[in-house]
Amino acid sequence: MKIDYQEPSKDLLMRIDIHEKYGSANIDVWTNELLKPQAGMKILDVGCGAGKLSFLFNEYTKGEAKITGGDFSEELLDKAREKNKKVGANIDFQFLDFNQPFKFEDNTFDLCTSAFAIYYASDLDFTFGEAHRV
Ligand SMILES: C[S@@+](CC[C@H](N)C(=O)[O-])C[C@H]1O[C@@H](n2cnc3c(N)ncnc32)[C@H](O)[C@@H]1O
Repeated sequence: MKIDYQEPSKDLLMRIDIHEKYGSANIDVWTNELLKPQAGMKILDVGCGAGKLSFLFNEYTKGEAKITGGDFSEELLDKAREKNKKVGANIDFQFLDFNQPFKFEDNTFDLCTSAFAIYYASDLDFTFGEAHRV
């Protein structure tokens, strides 16, 4: 059965906020300690939403990584771009539908991540395949 439900952006933002307020562990600290993003790395954040993880990597690398955030919600991308300007970051937020072939050459990125998003993929093998390829 194919489910066509798409969660509205306001619900997604509320969910992100709930994770931040009530999550029992600090996932941001854990993510950085686990992945250790480095200055000079090219990083892709798949399903970046309003850019939480992208901004986290940017802070952790002191703006020295080349970060791309991809999402199919233009509304959330706009929020991310607004924050990009506000904090003076240089993250490339762009449209990406992770159910479609990613528009990047093979081996473009050193690190490809996704937080709270990949479970929306309609074919996990396909999406992981694209993330691994780029
Ligand atoms: C719960 S939010 C998480 C956002 C962000 N990663 C974070 O941690 O704050 C899930 C995200 O997945 C995105 N998403 C869902 N389906 C997608 C698709 N097919 N392609 C790209 N992004 C998608 C949504 O637009 C949303 O931004």
